[in-house]
Amino acid sequence: MFSYSKAPYRYIAKYKNGKWEEGYLSQDANVVLNESACVLQYAQCVFEGLKAYKTRDGRIVCFRPDCNASRMKDSAIRMAMPPYPEDKYLEAIDMVVRANREVIPPYGDGSSLYLRPFMIGTTPVLGVKPADEYEFRIFASPVGPYFDGKIKLRVCDFDRAAPNGTGNIKASLNYAMSLYAIADAHAQGYDENLYLDAATRRFLEETGGANIFFVTKEGSLVTPASGTILPSITRRSVLEVASKVFGMPVEERRISIDEIGGFEECGLCGTAAVISPVESIDDHGQIYRYFRERDFESSFSWKLRTYLTEVQRGERVGPEGWMSQPLSNEFESLCLPSGVCD
Ligand code: PLP
Ligand code: COI
Repeated sequence: MFSYSKAPYRYIAKYKNGKWEEGYLSQDANVVLNESACVLQYAQCVFEGLKAYKTRDGRIVCFRPDCNASRMKDSAIRMAMPPYPEDKYLEAIDMVVRANREVIPPYGDGSSLYLRPFMIGTTPVLGVKPADEYEFRIFASPVGPYFDGKIKLRVCDFDRAAPNGTGNIKASLNYAMSLYAIADAHAQGYDENLYLDAATRRFLEETGGANIFFVTKEGSLVTPASGTILPSITRRSVLEVASKVFGMPVEERRISIDEIGGFEECGLCGTAAVISPVESIDDHGQIYRYFRERDFESSFSWKLRTYLTEVQRGERVGPEGWMSQPLSNEFESLCLPSGVCD
């Protein structure tokens, strides 16, 4: 199950008087805020999600933490927040993983330690403007899979992200606006919403918490190109594996809602979602089904998922720089040198 389960330690760093103070670990999971803090009134909050895994030989590794650090910088800038330095971010990930190593789920049961870095504007504001002070935190939670089995999507009538809005960053406000839609989707028996582009409502974007991809009968990977979706690190990795390891043709392009019946496989990809198979997409009563000629276990999506999870669990050496240094019993550094992420 993917739900919050309090790990003992979290990292906290505060931004005051125009600079970031030294961060520290705390056992206190509560955040104390003024009632008019910018995060409470005007949703000044960005976050990230990544996982630490135990490998078969007892190491602890993280998947592409440098990419999360760099995306969080982009998110912070867009939300008028001071970016947390990327090298400090990686050190903080290292500290949180080390401190919580007792609660990292064991190798091989499909679970991991989810890490949730986030940053909030803490000073009181009443007029609409950014805060002067901020808190950067990372908490951890042992988690299982986000989805159980095959996913049912519905094309959503609400929009997720406006053109020139914040769809391409990991701002909490993007998720706030999806809460009504996801509650409604669940009530109607769907697992997730598939959003269309807000400008024309003709092209696919992504779901509330993951990017989407398709595979053709012939084995080409196709995924939406859009400036208003989150640039998923999992998707970036899947595209690279598909093309460089499996020699699959890959296409990042606009995907019209009218062509989704033509694909053989459909999947969601993300840190929480990993690679999860989509059983069907319901477009206002027109239902498209996937994995009809090939079941998931004999599909291209399965091959990609297997390769990716084997790299993440340290069973296979993936592309250079994808896994952070092992956290050994001698407590070597977990972090990658910065700059590995493109
Ligand atoms: N899209 C959205 C809206 C997400 O919340 C996520 C999760 O982080 C993703 C895509 C997948 O991104 P990543 O693979 O970097 O976790
Ligand atoms: C993640 O995959 O890390 C996310 O942030 C998605 C969220 C829906 C849990």
